[in-house]
Amino acid sequence: MTDLLSKIKEKTANIAVIGLGYVGLPLAVDFAKAGFHVVGIDKNQARANAVDNGRNYIGDVSDDDLKTVTKNGRLTGTTDFSVLQQTDAICICVPTPLSKTKDPDVSFILHATDAVHQHLRSQQLICLESTTYPGTTHELVLPRLSRTGLTVGKDFFLSFSPERIDPGNAHFKLKNTPKVIGGTTPACLKLSEALYGNIVDHVIPVSSTEAAEMVKLLENTFRSVNIGLVNEMAIMAQKLGLDVWEVIHAASTKPYGFMPFYPGPGLGGHCIPVDPHYLAWKLKTLNYKARFIEMAGEINAAMPQYVVDLIVGGVESE
Ligand SMILES: NC(=O)c1ccc[n+]([C@@H]2O[C@H](COP(=O)([O-])OP(=O)(O)OC[C@H]3O[C@@H](n4cnc5c(N)ncnc54)[C@H](O)[C@@H]3O)[C@@H](O)[C@H]2O)c1
Repeated sequence: MTDLLSKIKEKTANIAVIGLGYVGLPLAVDFAKAGFHVVGIDKNQARANAVDNGRNYIGDVSDDDLKTVTKNGRLTGTTDFSVLQQTDAICICVPTPLSKTKDPDVSFILHATDAVHQHLRSQQLICLESTTYPGTTHELVLPRLSRTGLTVGKDFFLSFSPERIDPGNAHFKLKNTPKVIGGTTPACLKLSEALYGNIVDHVIPVSSTEAAEMVKLLENTFRSVNIGLVNEMAIMAQKLGLDVWEVIHAASTKPYGFMPFYPGPGLGGHCIPVDPHYLAWKLKTLNYKARFIEMAGEINAAMPQYVVDLIVGGVESE
């Protein structure tokens, strides 16, 4: 562990980022900008080639930054997972969508983990960043990696750190957004804090990988539920003949205890409409119904139709 920690602190550690999307590419570029040698691995050949040739396709990444780090050899792109053997730290940033029945689809995490398992060697740090239900790192990732016979916390290190990136946000980027980290063991946490401390201003350690997984789901469920609440407020205000915007703006003048959310025709992005279902699914396996999540999901999912009906009603009454 001491050697790996020194490599991370001295920025001589080689880093791999698996999954070069909205989350993975900015992360890979920031590690490369900080002075690390980074290899980005994506199963999509076009993406791997684009990164390798310094061609940007993610709005939050600066074209110049990507060109600089690929030209100076700090960042390369590939589809070849065998490069993992030469890396010291591996960040997994693959998608976590829902299945047709709104159950978690963790197949991308499993695929990436199996690839890591094939090339796992002593003294590597693996950090999962994909949003997922509490228990994924411990129950799915750890047993797969342990099949090598290597021991976590001694031979290899495993942590979970949720990505909080807000695509398009001009103010809050990776660097100035505190990064929550949970380690499988204290040594895993210590190494992960050192790794991310190279690129973010503040790391926030929590007691376990499960707690770190839950933090992300609390954040996104908080938004989903509050958006559901304000969408229902909009429906109620309309029935009462009130302007919901006037009500929200006036309520927002309260200097404490209120945070404005705004109604709308639908939820965007791949996080808010998806992530709370990961938590609800996990709780279902424990015979608990996540009522707020389900109700907010129902209200938010019905908003597009509600808005269309309002528009049609408005046009017809003209
Ligand atoms: N986009 C966001 O705003 C955001 C914010 C916070 C967290 N997240 C979470 O981060 C994770 C990644 O999201 P994203 O938005 O970057 O996804 P994305 O779809 O933009 O990118 C994922 C990339 O992973 C690649 N990939 C898939 N399976 C792979 C595999 N087995 N090996 C190598 N590459 C593989 C895909 O080809 C794709 O390029 C998800 O869990 C998401 O919920 C996303």
